[in-house]
Amino acid sequence: MPSHRTVVARLREVVGNHVVTDPEVIAPFARDWTNRFRGQTPAVVRPGSTGEVAGVVRACRELGVALVPQGGNTGLVGGGVPLHGEVVLSLGRLTSVDEVDTVAGQLTAGAGVALGTVQQAAGAAGWRYAVDLASRGSATVGGTVATNAGGTHVLHHGDTRAQLLGMEAVLGTGAVVSHLGGLVKDNTGYHLPGLVCGSEGTLAVVTAARLRLVPDLPWRTVAVLAFASVADALGGSAVLRRSLPSLEAVELFLAPGLELVCTVTGMSPPFPEAHPAYLLVEAADRVDPTEAVAEAVGAVGRLAGSVVATESSRRAELWRYREAHTEAINTLGPPHKLDVTLPLGALAEFVDRVPVEVHAVDPTARTWLFGHAGDGNVHVNVTGPAPGDERVDETVLRLVAGYGGSISAEHGIGAAKRRWLHLARSDSEIAAFRAIKRALDPDGILNPNALLPPEPS
Ligand code: MLT
Ligand code: ZN
Repeated sequence: MPSHRTVVARLREVVGNHVVTDPEVIAPFARDWTNRFRGQTPAVVRPGSTGEVAGVVRACRELGVALVPQGGNTGLVGGGVPLHGEVVLSLGRLTSVDEVDTVAGQLTAGAGVALGTVQQAAGAAGWRYAVDLASRGSATVGGTVATNAGGTHVLHHGDTRAQLLGMEAVLGTGAVVSHLGGLVKDNTGYHLPGLVCGSEGTLAVVTAARLRLVPDLPWRTVAVLAFASVADALGGSAVLRRSLPSLEAVELFLAPGLELVCTVTGMSPPFPEAHPAYLLVEAADRVDPTEAVAEAVGAVGRLAGSVVATESSRRAELWRYREAHTEAINTLGPPHKLDVTLPLGALAEFVDRVPVEVHAVDPTARTWLFGHAGDGNVHVNVTGPAPGDERVDETVLRLVAGYGGSISAEHGIGAAKRRWLHLARSDSEIAAFRAIKRALDPDGILNPNALLPPEPS
């Protein structure tokens, strides 16, 4: 292995002063947002162009040094931190946002642009970027593409991959692949953006993305609905999905999570009394959807209560009950975050069963459940067990697999779940993954500790 000094000197040849080695400055780049995953790095390198990214990748390839690409560092599975002394390749300086193509309804943005900035740019041009998530202020285009981020509106608009019309990226070979023309129909071979999207920085470093925009509908209505059970709530979700075409989001949270959110944020609860399960629903349309929402909600059986908001600040308050779960749970210490997806028919039973199974493994653990009920994605968060104690992770992920679910719905596999990849993917699928990895990153320098488990020796 080359010395730190050699690595830093070589990187400086590519990006000049944009190699950071001050331990205090680089410390936040070496740990994740939850504090569960902590590593170390000799340097954070901050290229300012795609050409410089390619130069950095080529230099690291020559030196035999591994890289971890990093965007806003909002990942939740340890996939964006240097757990084994890798160099951090920060894309934070790639902040160009092209003018919105108002004819096509598309936008090209650099990897380091925050999701919220893309949303604002789209909104200013009368369009909307459909991917939305609570960390919109820090999560970046590059990171959301690399992880195929989902979020709160997948039900209606699909995940990041569904918005991706083109991409510029640097492969592990150092070659630049750029296809940003934005043609909706373009059947000219392998769809590299679709392949790189969700590959968690293991095949290529995303430097820019061409994104599809959707019409910015002027009217929105948000409601929080209360239920006596998760099964009732999910029954309600099915009714709404069937009867309300303007439905954009159906989110789930439970009484303990809401209580914690209210304690941490100081918000008052939405109802005078607690209910076991809640749905947050959002509808958007060209005309006020409030009446349509009321009619659809009226058809929901076993409803224990509802609050409705049309005015923007009140809508944001209702959203906060759901979106503040992540920060509220983090106040209890680093959580085990198990982002899973279940066949919708099995979701209610799973949600009821998982705390019981967790308790059987670790009676001191607390299970928090919330998520995107409309698409079957539930976030199982467990607080209590030490970060390295994976018994609870194993139990939950095996339970998910037993129901025919997936061990990652939207956060990815990262470092946290790669030992369980076999629960979701067959041997031949994993062999195909490895072949693709070898082709695009022959020396295995890109994010070597994410997604794929070590090769059996
Ligand atoms: C969410 O849906 O709030 C995010 O995926 C974050 C999380 O799971 O904590
Ligand atoms: Zn989520």
